[in-house]
Amino acid sequence: MTKVLVSDPIDQAGIDILAQVAQVDQRVGLSEDDLKAMIGDYDALMIRSGTQVTADVIKAGGRLRIIGRAGVGVDNVDVPTATQQGVLVVNSPEGNTIAAAEQALALMLSLSRHVPQAHASTMAGGWDRKKYVGNELYKKVLGVVGLGKIGSHVARVCNAMGMEVIAYDPFISADRAQQMQVRLSSLENLFEQADYITLHLPRTPDTENLVNEELLGKMKSTARLVNCARGGIIDESALADALKAGVIGGAALDVYAQEPLATDSPLRSVQERLILTPHLGASTTEAQENVAVDVAEQIRDVLLGLPARSA
Ligand code: NAD
Ligand code: MLT
Repeated sequence: MTKVLVSDPIDQAGIDILAQVAQVDQRVGLSEDDLKAMIGDYDALMIRSGTQVTADVIKAGGRLRIIGRAGVGVDNVDVPTATQQGVLVVNSPEGNTIAAAEQALALMLSLSRHVPQAHASTMAGGWDRKKYVGNELYKKVLGVVGLGKIGSHVARVCNAMGMEVIAYDPFISADRAQQMQVRLSSLENLFEQADYITLHLPRTPDTENLVNEELLGKMKSTARLVNCARGGIIDESALADALKAGVIGGAALDVYAQEPLATDSPLRSVQERLILTPHLGASTTEAQENVAVDVAEQIRDVLLGLPARSA
């Protein structure tokens, strides 16, 4: 019998699709050893971000044909080993685009209007209308780093809100940017000019700690930085220092170099001007259904012997 192991929480719509062609076993919270011991019984593995699919897990998957990641990033899958072992890796490049873009927008607006801090103060019995005077996004300069699917959506919405949008993306042509009413800029220039900076690029060896002390030092002292892309792109110690010293106006992060965020992370010692969310960019009902259906359909097709696109 064809069997699929689902080792992270996946929307039921995806499970229903898999169940059309296979026995589906949902086992969330497995250790690497558990997974190594079980994976040999399965033809397909469906995951989100929680499961680490290491080289050892893949090598233990004697009959494994496909790994489906319900989301964009396949950073938690050893793709080179999968390829070497003839195991296809598929993902859902577009299923959570809107959700991640809207999380970045939510964080920008929350930073501008001190929403979490004002809520906490009011819940604690306060009524502090002076302390939480904010800023408008209207007529401010937004710098988008990475003008792909998510960055473009953020740019479109922010243009509609009356912001001037500039972007740094070495792989986007000036014509394409112009179509989006975005002016291309160098990275340094963007950090110097923008009032808000939002990151939407992948984490690669080239982008690791890209936003370091030097780049943070180029920002306006009122400017705010948002990262809903990947942890590790910002040097978190340098960011904590910049916030404490008032080098920048604020930051909001959804993703971290280490997840869950370490209890002793320097970010936890920042008292003000920082908003942290626990990797919620894709956490909408709509996005979770989209990615589950998208990836489940690809797994189903491969199990039926039909072609699927690879990540
Ligand atoms: P995408 O591939 O459509 O866009 C990425 C863009 O980054 C591309 O245009 C690419 O040219 C550009 N880029 C690559 N290297 C760059 C560099 N060194 N400097 C500047 N730009 C560079 O990807 P996407 O779907 O828009 O996703 C963007 C990021 O968001 C990814 O890291 C993805 O993993 C992450 N993401 C996070 C969440 C979340 O839950 N927080 C959800 C979805 C996606
Ligand atoms: C993704 O890569 O799709 C996002 O980071 C969301 C997730 O981890 O599921």
